[in-house]
Amino acid sequence: MKKLTAICLLLTLAFSCAGCGSQPAQTGSAPVPTEAPEQAPTETPISEQETGSAPETEVAEEPAETEAQSSILVVYFSATGTTRGVAERIAALTGGDLAEIVPAQPYTAEDLNYNDRSTRATVEQNTPDARPEIADEISLDGYTTVYLGYPIWWGQAPRILSTFVEGHDFTGMTVIPFCTSGSSGAGRTGETLGEQAGTGTFLSSTRLDVGISEAELQAWIEK
Ligand SMILES: Cc1cc2nc3c(=O)[nH]c(=O)nc-3n(C[C@H](O)[C@H](O)[C@H](O)COP(=O)(O)O)c2cc1C
Repeated sequence: MKKLTAICLLLTLAFSCAGCGSQPAQTGSAPVPTEAPEQAPTETPISEQETGSAPETEVAEEPAETEAQSSILVVYFSATGTTRGVAERIAALTGGDLAEIVPAQPYTAEDLNYNDRSTRATVEQNTPDARPEIADEISLDGYTTVYLGYPIWWGQAPRILSTFVEGHDFTGMTVIPFCTSGSSGAGRTGETLGEQAGTGTFLSSTRLDVGISEAELQAWIEK
């Protein structure tokens, strides 16, 4: 009986030692990570954001900085700069916007030579229905008062002024014509332009001397 017990013990020992020999040998390869996998991102998935299921946050829009438009426009034609100078002073005193009537075909010094009756400006003034083309469109939108400046050519407003007034609607506007000249007065140029326009209230034109003082110009504006 003792012998049988000893054999059983030996057999048990032998089997348990056999398990020890089956352990794989250390190969030196990278160890298999045992940490838990990285936590899934908790942010809202893009697909969900795109579908708009997430609550939207309204971003208040900054009000755009827009300068209020003046109700006054100073429009002028000037072949040699005199009327331009006066127009700029009127715009500065009134806070009005400034716009130049630019001829599509600029006047050369030769065109303006009134000593030669065959030159362009003089021929145009002798042709009542001449309408020289204007290069750029001038918008009158939003204006209620329009100062309209020009030089006197042979006692009249240059024909390009007729092009301008006939091409615009002055309804609801007061138009204040003014001119410069060597010595001639404004005559009926303001009234004539008003008749050609057919809209708006055109006042009589005033000849403004190039050397007019600031106080005199201010007084004329207030009048
Ligand atoms: C073709 C032409 C005709 C002119 N006719 C007159 C005129 O009849 N009476 C006058 O006093 N000045 C006359 N001038 C002079 C201009 O009216 C004057 O120099 C004006 O101030 C010019 O203005 P601007 O420089 O804005 O063009 C004439 C000038 C030109 C070029």
